[in-house]
Amino acid sequence: MSRNAELERLTRVQQVLRRKRLDALLVSQPDNRRYLSGYTAPDHGIQESAGFLLIPAEGMPHLLTDSRFTLQAEAESPLFQVDTYAKGMLQLLEKLCKKSGVRTLAFESDYFLHSSFLRLAAMAEKRGLTLQAESGLIEKMRAIKDEHELRLLRQSTQLNEKVFQSVYNTIEPGMTEREIALALELTMREMGAEGPSFDTIVAFGTNAARPHAVPTDRELQAGDLVLIDMGLVYQGYCSDMTRTFVAGKPDQTYIDRHRAVRKAMLAGIGAVRAGVTGAEVDRIARQTLIDAGYEAFGHGLGHGVGVAVHEEPRLSPRGTKQLQAGMVVTVEPGLYLADWGGIRLENMVIVGEDGCEVLNQDTTGLDL
Ligand code: GLY
Ligand code: MN
Ligand code: MN
Repeated sequence: MSRNAELERLTRVQQVLRRKRLDALLVSQPDNRRYLSGYTAPDHGIQESAGFLLIPAEGMPHLLTDSRFTLQAEAESPLFQVDTYAKGMLQLLEKLCKKSGVRTLAFESDYFLHSSFLRLAAMAEKRGLTLQAESGLIEKMRAIKDEHELRLLRQSTQLNEKVFQSVYNTIEPGMTEREIALALELTMREMGAEGPSFDTIVAFGTNAARPHAVPTDRELQAGDLVLIDMGLVYQGYCSDMTRTFVAGKPDQTYIDRHRAVRKAMLAGIGAVRAGVTGAEVDRIARQTLIDAGYEAFGHGLGHGVGVAVHEEPRLSPRGTKQLQAGMVVTVEPGLYLADWGGIRLENMVIVGEDGCEVLNQDTTGLDL
């Protein structure tokens, strides 16, 4: 991440804190942590944290971590004072709050275990600190991307397509869903990705009726439909794309259904622009599928993508917020029939003032 972008983000957080009359914000969510500091260490499970940011309304921000990550944090986050805790994060937090006169401390209420919160609350009570639960403060900033982020999201998407194309060319009857998923994830890393942005979905035939199918040992047979939903992380930024095709020659039923989903996707993409709500875009795509005589998909039409593969905003019936220029969202209608299979097509777009820029090239020759 560029230092300028990082500085600008910190400045914005500090402005928000001052406006809300908060003395500091404790950041515990790993994606928010990375977004603000550039620190890449991931958490493993909800009980284990690779660190916290303590951002005061004025002055130097701190990165609190343990000795496993001190050197990494210092290298990746030069705008932060890195403080290493040996006896637990709370003791260090208590010391830093006291030293910098923090009286009102905000924390990310969506990312705090209840047990951790109870310990934090006990410390706060002992020290006369007021805790303020905050929800979505950094996520709201993350939803709108700057030029540097847009560049990385374009590159992430291009790399994702390249990986798909390279493995697609090798798919043949007899391969299992798990083998293809593994080949995709291996190729991602070989081609320069940090790794997958979520567990790769490869589903044949009826397995594709499960929108989030888990790859099995099922072997591909000629004529099976194949749904692949894949994404990778490139320099911190995620991609997410779904392609559905037939191994061999598609029959007319498949062609009709594929075209119906594609039409819904194009209608959704055509509706994306600043000022419309996520619900409106969702409704337009959904209605296109219903008008073609199909049942609407149970999931939302799409979601924001950035440092996390699922982030704000939501394109769904509950997406009441207006889209803004610089947001990046997926458009991914699907059609699912338990005794037949499923088709989902997913592309990423950048929201613009008068429309959107489609990030995927769709040069895979899969259009019917
Ligand atoms: N890969 C999960 C999704 O498309 O949202
Ligand atoms: Mn996806
Ligand atoms: Mn998606």
